[in-house]
Amino acid sequence: MIRVGLLGPPDRLEIGRLSLRLEERGVEPVLLDSRRPPEFEITAGSVRALGEDLLALRGLMVIDLGLPATGDGTAESVAASRRHLAGWNAALEALEGRVRVVNPPQSHELHGLKPFETLDYQWRGLPVPETVATSSPEGFDRLPAFTHGTIRKSLVGGLDFTEAVEDGPTADRERLLAERGAVLIQRRIVGDNVRVFVLDGRVLGAAAIIPANPAATDSRRGESLVRRVKMPVATEQVVLAAVEASGMVFAAVDLMREGASGRDYLLECNSAPFFVAFEKASGFDIASPLADYLAARRGGTRSEALGPQPRR
Ligand SMILES: Nc1ncnc2c1ncn2[C@@H]1O[C@H](COP(=O)(O)OP(=O)(O)O)[C@@H](O)[C@H]1O
Ligand SMILES: [Mg+2]
Repeated sequence: MIRVGLLGPPDRLEIGRLSLRLEERGVEPVLLDSRRPPEFEITAGSVRALGEDLLALRGLMVIDLGLPATGDGTAESVAASRRHLAGWNAALEALEGRVRVVNPPQSHELHGLKPFETLDYQWRGLPVPETVATSSPEGFDRLPAFTHGTIRKSLVGGLDFTEAVEDGPTADRERLLAERGAVLIQRRIVGDNVRVFVLDGRVLGAAAIIPANPAATDSRRGESLVRRVKMPVATEQVVLAAVEASGMVFAAVDLMREGASGRDYLLECNSAPFFVAFEKASGFDIASPLADYLAARRGGTRSEALGPQPRR
């Protein structure tokens, strides 16, 4: 029987949904609980973690590596977290070419490199909002005064909400930098936040996430509505190029669609996105094609891998 590993906390809805989609296809989901100690054993012949030989899996979905919290900041807790990460990185790297790993380990670090990610897209000629990363108050002056102002966000993706920058005196900037260390500031795009799911070079669906509170800068704050949107061919090319640059196979790409111009600006690619709520709100099926991909033989098609398709 074909077996596909799902690495993450078992109560994450994405793991439950993928398990279901795999079972419907006659594939066995192997739950790898990332909250447990990984107990790695990497030898010439096997790559073991969490009691499983990972080389015996057809595919492996990485939702969360369960890195131990370094919240108390002691040297020992930081070292323990680094050892855990190194173990997983080595194990996942050793699967390269043998097991379909979604997403490849090199792409996991991207959310910790937000200023680089933005620059990399810009260097590739992809449209991103004008951006500066800075730890000094003068850095704020590197961006011109935009009609709709600027926003700031954390240098590490997903750690903080995006907020409008109030153009106050230098003391305000110093206070912000003292609190945050360094920030990424960016031209504010007035329009809709659009999320696009991509798998294996193909768009699975795109929808705008519209906050119930129209004054919210960050569309993830509070309640929101989800509305399917059309993807202009040019935007689709931008999105696919960004995902390719990110090294991901599966990604949720965040864009801002400017209301006045209709132009789409690239924000980031997310490697382990939440998709269950998105499926429900948009009606797009994300988990089925993902299950097909994870269960397919490398280089082969799904029907070769699985035989006749189940009816649903
Ligand atoms: N330049 C911008 N202009 C307006 N809103 C933005 C801008 N950048 C981000 N946002 C809002 O903030 C949210 C989070 O930003 P994002 O770049 O996706 O960072 P992350 O999700 O890693 O925190 C976006 O989904 C969007 O709603
Ligand atoms: Mg985002």
